[in-house]
Order: sequence, then structure tokens, then C-alpha cells
Amino acid sequence: MNNPEDRKKELKEILSLHDNAYYRHGKPSISDREYDRLKDEFDSLNALDDPLGLFAGSEAGVIPKPQPVSPLVGDDRLDEFSSHQHLSPMLSLDNTYDEVEFFDFDKKLDKILKSESRSYVVEPKIDGVAVSLTYENGSLTMATTRGNGIEGDVITQNILHIKELPQQISDIGFPKLLEIRGEIFMEHDEFQRINQQRVEMGMDLYANPRNLTAGTVKLLDPRESRKRKLKIVLYGLGGYEPEGYFSSLSVFHNMIKDWGFPVVEFFSKVSSASEAWSKISELNELRDSYTYPTDGAVIKLDSLPLQELAGATAKAPRWAIAYKFESERQETILEDIQLQVGRTGAVTPVAYLKAVQLAGTTVSRASLHNADEIERKDIRIGDVVVVEKAGEIIPQVIEVVLTSRSQKSEAFIFPSNCPCCDTLLEKTDGESAWRCPNLLCSDQVKARLEYYAARGCMNIDSLGEAVIDQLVSRSFVKDLADLYFLTKEQLLSLEGFAEKSAENLLSAIEESKKQDLWRFICGLGIKHVGASASKDLAREFRSIDSIMKATDDELTSIDGVGSIMAKSIYSFFIDDGNRTMIEKLAKHGLNLSLNSTGDNTPLPFRGKTFVLTGTLVQFTRDEAGSQIERLGGKVTSSVSKKTTYLIAGPGAGSKLAKAQKLEIEILSEADFANMLMHDS
Ligand code: IVH
Repeated sequence: MNNPEDRKKELKEILSLHDNAYYRHGKPSISDREYDRLKDEFDSLNALDDPLGLFAGSEAGVIPKPQPVSPLVGDDRLDEFSSHQHLSPMLSLDNTYDEVEFFDFDKKLDKILKSESRSYVVEPKIDGVAVSLTYENGSLTMATTRGNGIEGDVITQNILHIKELPQQISDIGFPKLLEIRGEIFMEHDEFQRINQQRVEMGMDLYANPRNLTAGTVKLLDPRESRKRKLKIVLYGLGGYEPEGYFSSLSVFHNMIKDWGFPVVEFFSKVSSASEAWSKISELNELRDSYTYPTDGAVIKLDSLPLQELAGATAKAPRWAIAYKFESERQETILEDIQLQVGRTGAVTPVAYLKAVQLAGTTVSRASLHNADEIERKDIRIGDVVVVEKAGEIIPQVIEVVLTSRSQKSEAFIFPSNCPCCDTLLEKTDGESAWRCPNLLCSDQVKARLEYYAARGCMNIDSLGEAVIDQLVSRSFVKDLADLYFLTKEQLLSLEGFAEKSAENLLSAIEESKKQDLWRFICGLGIKHVGASASKDLAREFRSIDSIMKATDDELTSIDGVGSIMAKSIYSFFIDDGNRTMIEKLAKHGLNLSLNSTGDNTPLPFRGKTFVLTGTLVQFTRDEAGSQIERLGGKVTSSVSKKTTYLIAGPGAGSKLAKAQKLEIEILSEADFANMLMHDS
């Protein structure tokens, strides 16, 4: 593509796809470095149209107007959240990856600031999620995400549980109004704890702590975010009153530290660019000792008046730059590609690598995602490949070092048959995975059993991978129902079992018959049906029998069940094998309906969906929500055609307007309280 206009259009499209993946879905699709390269190309093509940089941002010394943020700054705002305008825009930082560029940054400032002598502050660049905290008269009134730089989503409820975060400062010297900027992050142990839970539940893993943090601050239910331990560190200054209150970043840093805010460690003030450069190298060395994930260092002018003089472009200040540490990449040999068959039959290729040290851990396996990815990157067994830790944890094969490829190498041919049972693989339109359609395929059976027994489903503790492997290989178990036929003699014939352990496993399996209905539904492993959909299905249909008989319309009338999920539920229950299995399970006395537990609470709110907005006085949101759920109703965060009632308190805004437009019944808090009195 030679035409710059076409290339610009293409780059804009590519960048906005990556922006969407990164900011809205918390799932970066390329590495930061690749992104920066594309972005630089885009910026230089734009510079051809605007050689004097007149439209690129403000003139030096002028604070940019909040308007010109290009869509390429990214935007994390979601419809479900209300947004709030920042007092001063939340900009991004220009990145540099080498020493020459770093010193160029200093030289550019030389030109702008002329002979002014200047100090810099240097600190780690935290790889978390940017946040802006607003304090009014010493009270924390709001926390917002960066959003589009001008306005961000209000996430206060999702971060209030961070115990290091002061919510009230009583010092009378505290400014009247203050926006403090910082980063929310998650420590490694917590990240691993949550991913471990997800492994047990057979759910997709988060690629790195940053993505998990981004997902956590945007959870719609603050009770869920409270279950994940977030941390915060603060380093930046937004808008404030009175004017002139702070004179420099180092003063600001010390003041907020004294007020009890968690500030960045390894903060240093230096008096020249070369001193800053040696600090950066020190930070790189110390990197592994931080409690937070970092991906570089940030160098900023210390003096606030000089910052103002330097100004900013629409995207980033001219008074600061991020030096990105070399990402954690290594070359190694791809020794083998193996295929794993999951519980839904999806066949996933896994790269087996010659072990290599990457960011402090030994890596010998990496994800290859799917057949298309192997073909696109032309990855071959025996190749030297570049492996990168995406963020922190799951290593990815980035590219092949073609110059090292052996002449004898052959393209990898993705098999047409299942590596486990030899059945012809199938691919559904729009899906990237090949699937094995044979429900009796033993790798699938094993994966389904593991999922069923996992903590997030039936929670059968002693039924782990090693036991399941043996049960399936010995043909003692071919489907979930067979678990309940197991005998002590069979277990005693397996490796590692003695009298006591066999009895323990049998009684754990027996106990599982009493598990909640939703756990059973979840454990069936129906494609797309996770824990929350299982809870919805259990609450609305109250028995497996009714779910089996439900029509497509009945299924999709439930909030949270869309047509794809409905189709998947339908095809699961239409399958003869699955029907027979459910019959067998019922005969074994599993808890397949809510009534069988003796739970006969009347459910007057059944099938009704509530949205809460504005300020409630009599109830907290949580209380109102649990009352609704207790009576069989459901609470969602956004108003749609499926909403039955909007409970609107004072201060209700866009949700109220939307409900009025959709002619949804609007209740005051008092109406709701009345309803509760009559219905409970
Ligand atoms: S200063 C005008 N200091 O990195 C922006 N940012 O890639 C001034 N970040 O938007 C930001 N650690 O969210 C600053 N020590 C640090 C930082 C830091 C992480 C984030 C921040 C910024 C992003 C740019």
C-alpha cells in the first residue's frame, strides 16, 4: 500500500481495533512495542498533513483545551457506568525505548525552557490502571478511570475497599479541592490466586495482572470487586484549589505521603538528564523487588510552573516521558506443538519450548491460540521463535526468526482429526477453534469431569486430575452420571488409593448430590453457560426439567441469556446422550430442582428485573438488591427493554430518562418499600 492516505486509513482502523481490545476489553492484542511502532507510523503520516504541528496540540505554555483529544488516546468508558468530567485532562505519556531518544527529550525542553535550570523526578512506571481521585474538603468523593482523557467512568464503589486508600483527611491544611492521580494494580500472589480459581472452574485465564485489574474496577457488582484485593499507588496531580497550592511534584509527593497516601517507592529528585539516566538504570535493576508490576520509568520536570511553560500536546505532556524497559522477550526453540482437547471439544495448540528464563521464571510452554494463528505466523516445529511474556504471566510466541529457519523445515499441518479419538474435526462459522464433535472422546470426558468437580461447580475436593485420568482410562467413568456408580472396589484398584482415601472420595461424591441446583447446571459444562448464567437459570426455571422443556423465547426472556447461549442450552439438552445422562443423575438422587431442597419461599418478583438509580435513603444499594433477589427478582445495572422497574431516587439522571423513553414503570424508594411490605 503506497498511498499515504490509504495507509493512514488502514492504520487508524488497526489502531482503533487494538485500542478497543486494550481499553474496553482489557485484552491487549499486540505488545506495547508493536503498538507504539504502528502509532509512530500513523503520527508521522499525519505530520505530513500538518508539518508545523499546529493541530497537534497546544502551543508551549498553553494548557490544552479539553476538546482535541483524538480517538487514538483510547477510551475505556462503558455504557453501564456513569461518567464524570475530570477537572484537568488525564493525558497519556510519550514512550521512548532508547537512550538517544531519552536525551532528545531533554534537548527539546532545553529549547522551550531556554536557560532555566531544572530538576527532574524519576520514578517507576506502574503497569496498572490509571485512576483519578477527587477529594473535596478532605473527603474522597469520587474515583474515576481515565476514560477518553476528558471524562472517565465513575468507579468509586469498586475501589473503596482498598484499605490503604484514605477516605477522609482531617488536616485543615488539606486543599479545598484536589484531584490525585495514580494507578490501581494487583499484586502477583492475588493475580495467581484468582487465575488458579479460574483454572479450577475451567474459565479463560487473565493474561496479566493489569487486565485483571482493569476488569475488576469495571465490575458491575461492587460485592464482586471486593472479593479481589486491589492496591493503589499515587503519583500525579490533576486539578486543585486554591491555585498555586503546590509548587513542585516533589513537594506534592512529600505532602501526600505525610497525609497518609500510598506513594511510589524509589522516587528520586535529580538535577540533570544524565543523573536521571543513571536513576533509570538503577530502577531497571531493582525492578523485581517492587510490589507492583512495572514496565518502565517516568521522568518528569519537577517544577509545576516549568511544566506549565513546557505545555502539552493533545495526547501527552512535553514535561514528562516514559522510558519503557526492554520487554521480557527471549528467543528459544519450538520443540513441539501439541494439541489439547478441552471439555467443549475445542482443540488448542500448545507450543513446547526449549526451557528459557523469562522475567524470573522458566518458560517451557506457550499458547498458540488456534490453527489460524499458526498459519498466519507460519510457526513450524524446530523454528527459533521469539517468546514474550504478555504483561507478566502467559507467554506468547510473538514471531518466528526466519533467518534461523532450517531449510528442511515443513509447515505445520493442523490435523483434520481429533488427536485423542480420531473423529473428524469441525469448525463452526465465525469461530476460530476446531472442535471434536464426539462427546465420548476421552480427553473431552476428562476435561468435563474436571470442570464438574471444580470448586466453582460441584466442588468435589478429592476428585482431581490424576484420579479422573485413571477413572476414564480404566473406563470406569464415561460420563458425569457414572461417577455416582463408582464402587469402593473399583477405587481400590486404582493407583494411590487405600481404604480411607476410597471412602473419602465416595462420600465426597455422595455429598455432591446435595449441591445447589445452579452448581449442577454450571457443572454440566454447557458451552457459554458460566456461574452467573447458571444462577439465573436456576432461579427462573427452578428445575432441570423446566430448563429442558424451555423454548427459545422462554430462555432468551431471561436477562443475561442471549440467543447464542439459548441455542447452546437447547442443543445440549436435545442430545440423546445428555438426556440419558440427566435421567441417570436424577435416579441417583441429585438435587435437580429447587423445591426438592424444601425451599418454598414465595417468589413474587420472579421474572422481574430491577434497576436502581439515584440516591436511596432507606436502603443501601446492597440491601435493596438482596431484598429483590430474595423474592426471586433480578437487579441489573443498565436500563433495557427487559427492565421491569426502575427504582429512582433523587439525583437520577440518564437511566431515568432512558426508562421514561422505554415506558418502563418507575418506582420511588417509598413505592418499593411498599411493594416489599405487601410481597414479603
Ligand atoms: S505521570 C500526564 N507517573 O502511564 C500523564 N504516569 O502510559 C502523567 N503511569 O497515563 C502521568 N506510572 O496512567 C505517571 N509514575 C507514573 C506512572 C504513570 C504509570 C501511567 C499513567 C499514564 C500512563 C502512560
